[in-house]
Amino acid sequence: MHIKTAAIATGAALGLSGGMAAAAELNLICSADVVICEKLVTEFEAGHSDINVNMVRLSSGEAYAKVRAEGRNPQTDLWWGGTGDPHLQAAHDGLTAEYRSELLPELQDWAVEQAETSEYRTVGVYSGALGWGYNTEILAEKGIEGPACWEDLLDPALKGEIQIADPNSSGTAYTTLATLVQLMGEDEAFEFLKQMNENVAQYTKSGSAPVKAAARGETGLGIVFMHDAVSQSVEGFPIQVMAPCEGTGYEVGSMSIIEGAQNPDEAKIFYDWVLTAEAQNLMPEAGSFQLPSNKSATASEHVPDLSEVKLIDYDFAEYGSADRRKELLARWDAEIGGQAAQ
Ligand code: G6P
Repeated sequence: MHIKTAAIATGAALGLSGGMAAAAELNLICSADVVICEKLVTEFEAGHSDINVNMVRLSSGEAYAKVRAEGRNPQTDLWWGGTGDPHLQAAHDGLTAEYRSELLPELQDWAVEQAETSEYRTVGVYSGALGWGYNTEILAEKGIEGPACWEDLLDPALKGEIQIADPNSSGTAYTTLATLVQLMGEDEAFEFLKQMNENVAQYTKSGSAPVKAAARGETGLGIVFMHDAVSQSVEGFPIQVMAPCEGTGYEVGSMSIIEGAQNPDEAKIFYDWVLTAEAQNLMPEAGSFQLPSNKSATASEHVPDLSEVKLIDYDFAEYGSADRRKELLARWDAEIGGQAAQ
């Protein structure tokens, strides 16, 4: 009895003074695909055994809403991934903290520009262009030619065959909305979306869900980032990846430290690590084929070649501004979401 007590007491003493103190915490929101989110956490923890990461996967718009709701009492320390517009909105609202990583000189210009636009409250971690993926077997069975242009998505033959996410929750869908407004003009874009609504079977919460549904044969076509469609074709599903003929928008997937975070030091350690070429090289291993932001990272052969895509000059400052994003989402709710066949 006496010996046992002593052993416990020794163990407890070791626990306090022998380097076994409770691990530091990092509360992370991850807004990219859950497979890469989990891989990054596992690899980071393997190299930083003193930091325990609590990760939650949320779509970009949901992540913004959570960070905003936490306000002055943040539970989140770091937000990695997801489209750049809501990160810029959060920066504008003062919800994210200024940080100039020493890794900035290693990054592509578009990633640094994102930092400059936000006065260093966010930074670019990857990029990718918008398009869609369609199930070649479903469209062939129905005798529908694969859509190559935005305009083709209005073909009545595609009724019930299109899925796209809801732009309130999804950064992918917000990028689509902002892209169409920049390509066509605002009223024309909403007219287009109203007409396309006739063909839309479902507005999903997450941005990549539509092409996963198309891969499983549940729908004909998903409007998504091209790299999300590539992930499905690489897995062997009959998905054809398309870049719209009229031109398309793109994302600068971003990362931000939360203002007033409870674990700012751990947030900075993850931030600097995840910007390294080594960490970014994990992305293709997890089936994520965005363009990495570190100039020394190796882009997988599956990453869509953006020089072959007709990209618009996407105005991140305007479409990531709080007023513009709020205004477009309110109009989408009034004119499209309210009419949607949910
Ligand atoms: C996918 C893409 C990412 C993108 C993210 C946005 O995970 O691979 O590149 O940033 O979607 O997610 P959301 O659900 O907000 O559209």
